[in-house]
Amino acid sequence: MSRIAVFGTGYVGCVTAACLSRDGFQTIGVDIDAEKVAALNAGDSPVAEPGLAELVAEQVAAGRLRATEDFREAIAETDIAMIAVGTPSDRTGAVSTIAVEKVIESIGQSLRGTDQSYNVVVRSTLLPGILENRLTPLLAESADSVLGDRIQICNNPEFLRESVAIRDYDAPPFVIAGASNPAAGEEVLNLYRSIDAEKVVTDTATAAMLKYACNAYHAAKIGFANEIGALARSFDADGQQVMDLVCRDTKLNVSRAYLRPGFAFGGSCLPKDLRALTRHAEEAAMKVSLLRSILPSNQEHLDRAIRLIEDRGKKKIGLIGLSFKAGTDDLRESPFVTLVETLIGRGYDVKIFDPGISISRLKGRNLAYIDQRLPHLAALLVEELDQLLSHGELLVLGNDIADDVDLKARSEDEIVDLRRCLVTPDHERVNA
Ligand SMILES: NC(=O)c1ccc[n+]([C@@H]2O[C@H](COP(=O)([O-])OP(=O)(O)OC[C@H]3O[C@@H](n4cnc5c(N)ncnc54)[C@H](O)[C@@H]3O)[C@@H](O)[C@H]2O)c1
Repeated sequence: MSRIAVFGTGYVGCVTAACLSRDGFQTIGVDIDAEKVAALNAGDSPVAEPGLAELVAEQVAAGRLRATEDFREAIAETDIAMIAVGTPSDRTGAVSTIAVEKVIESIGQSLRGTDQSYNVVVRSTLLPGILENRLTPLLAESADSVLGDRIQICNNPEFLRESVAIRDYDAPPFVIAGASNPAAGEEVLNLYRSIDAEKVVTDTATAAMLKYACNAYHAAKIGFANEIGALARSFDADGQQVMDLVCRDTKLNVSRAYLRPGFAFGGSCLPKDLRALTRHAEEAAMKVSLLRSILPSNQEHLDRAIRLIEDRGKKKIGLIGLSFKAGTDDLRESPFVTLVETLIGRGYDVKIFDPGISISRLKGRNLAYIDQRLPHLAALLVEELDQLLSHGELLVLGNDIADDVDLKARSEDEIVDLRRCLVTPDHERVNA
């Protein structure tokens, strides 16, 4: 059975150490704070957390948990390090890695010249890239060893909340191990074998990003609920009831819907209704910065798409799909209309294939919108997909109207799929 050294015995480290020893692992807490070490060794919890004092007392008495300030001794007696030291903001707002780097260096130095196998698991919250570009070389250099065989480095972000930390440790949303070596990832998951949760091994950057995505999402949810509540109050509506009902829609609201990164949104409702809300806030002298930031954020995503296309260096563009989603001919505020308008303005030769759109059938506001934004749309539309394929140098996929067509078999053009290419790492994209 693995023996574990937990570096940092604060909220995350102490809960982790106590729960790991409860689950049968021989565990040593390591901290530079002598008071925390002494408290742990006396069977007291160094942090206030419901249930933790009892658990620490029980585990110390059972001889499975102890603490030390001596890094070398802790490393010599263990197989796995869990790093749970603080990563506060520095003066610029960037994540401070000073404590993590010190621990990594000490671990490396302790392993230098030995044949000890060791798995270094970063549990502290760090931006993607720090483990790969800073900690990995630091560990390799200080251990004077190539990583990947005897010495591994992984991450294992923590999702617990203070005040219910033990409960969250025991019932996490998932257990994530980030590892470049699958066996090292499995070794991390094995620490949680008595915990009933989905367990996933992924790459270290994805694991690190997941933690930030969760916290950013939680913060955005709170900000959103508060802004909707404040707006509701200004209308004399009941914000609590509004948000309660919002949450009861598990089809579109509290669900996976709209949570897949892809292309910008558009259509006849979302932009218009966001503008109405933020305009009302302005008139009521209210600040709703989160809601106000959504349309600019959407425009920034559209700008990324334009840059992506421009970076390909091709002038003849074939766009598949013009309406904001397949199956509608509603072009009002379609982000693809804005995309085409911008590309044409910059001298691109654009043709569009969208069988759902017929100029003669466009009416009312839909027609007025197109007349204003793309008056020459008729000249840009082609009726057959083959016409588009013979025109372009670069195929741009907008909506899903051609998803059942094997474009790669029919065209040698480079393909940019706006639903994937803006958000998928280059190494995972297969020409689309
Ligand atoms: N607190 C939470 O609810 C929570 C939840 C999930 C993730 N996290 C992340 O976990 C990490 C730890 O957070 P925390 O709240 O437990 O921090 P904390 O400040 O409570 O504890 C950090 C501990 O690390 C010790 N330490 C500092 N430098 C050290 C060194 N060089 N060697 C050994 N020990 C050292 C400190 O003395 C302290 O005891 C952070 O990255 C945080 O973002 C925190």
